[in-house]
Amino acid sequence: MPRIFLGIESSCDDTAAAVVTSDRRILSSVVLDQATLHERYGGVVPEIAARAHAEKLDIAVEKALEDANLELSDLDAIAVTAGPGLIGGVISGVMMARGLSAGSGLPLIAVNHLAGHALTPRLTDSLSFPYLMLLVSGGHCQFLIVHGPDEFHRLGGTIDDAPGEAFDKTARLLGLPQPGGPSVESSAKLGDPKRFALPRPLLDRSGCDMSFSGLKTAVLRTRDALVSEKSGLTQQDRTDLCAGFQSAVVDVLAEKSRRAIKAYLESAPSEPAFAVAGGVAANTAIRTGLETLSKESGVAFAAPPLALCTDNAAMIAWAGIELDQAGLRGMDPIVARPRWPLDKQQAPLLGSGKKGAKA
Ligand code: KG4
Ligand code: ZN
Repeated sequence: MPRIFLGIESSCDDTAAAVVTSDRRILSSVVLDQATLHERYGGVVPEIAARAHAEKLDIAVEKALEDANLELSDLDAIAVTAGPGLIGGVISGVMMARGLSAGSGLPLIAVNHLAGHALTPRLTDSLSFPYLMLLVSGGHCQFLIVHGPDEFHRLGGTIDDAPGEAFDKTARLLGLPQPGGPSVESSAKLGDPKRFALPRPLLDRSGCDMSFSGLKTAVLRTRDALVSEKSGLTQQDRTDLCAGFQSAVVDVLAEKSRRAIKAYLESAPSEPAFAVAGGVAANTAIRTGLETLSKESGVAFAAPPLALCTDNAAMIAWAGIELDQAGLRGMDPIVARPRWPLDKQQAPLLGSGKKGAKA
């Protein structure tokens, strides 16, 4: 009999609940976003997010059960994001899950939000361990070798901003709508990527670490120089800057991925695979670049559907199933953790993105 898990996610600005089975069926996946609440502030406001999660969590859970046509008593366990993320939101989710568990007697499993993202290719593409993963979104950017549901080796990641933040900032600088990724991508299609020489930060440094804040600043300087030269930006200036910016991100991600694949292949995986997830993975130029690279390297490429790449609770339910199957029920009682690095050997990282802690 397949096991049925409820997943709960509230670590950033999406209140989500989902029901998933151990034979990889997503019976429901509800995501209530808070975009309109944070829009006017130009970023996620943690206090507003926490309050909205507290108000919406029960609605999300009820809807997830209703969509799955199940009662709480039909479930086998509850999996909840216990970090890393904006602590108020994480606490809201953990308290909700603890209440549900106390009332129903269902076991509770703490899930690391990043493990949720990193294990998604097992749910969608049945990848075998170990596989290489690039998480690339508005809040995360790192390469991981995934050896098991609680065994991750971090090869490198951003030392400052996540690429999604850089896309969003570039759009803001050029007066394009948010979220910046899709607007910069569509503008870049009409532009000349070679007109402005933008930097490819850290390409000269060995290893898989990346940096995107200098690129963001270079876009700002180029824009300011154009504006002071002719007191405004033409449509062509905008599209050329978008194209130049995007091609710099593509180049950095491709070169760092090449190195990550090389390091991964040294461990001689039996079924080599490279998976990419996160909102930025929706970008066609980035995706195509990584897919081509995988083909050249003899590594299978996987990119879960976008709804499962961005924040959702199906990935949390699935990670709970994987941990449970491996006998790794984790902490008891569950406490919310603002920081929770996936790689236990890794030294703590500095810095925190606008969309939450980078772990
Ligand atoms: O994974 P996600 O939905 O949320 C988290 O950050 O957790 O990622 C959102 C980010 C935003 O910064 C958005 O601008 C970026 O992903 N994004 C894109 C594209 N679509 C979304 N970036 C580049 N190209 C896109 N097509
Ligand atoms: Zn996330």
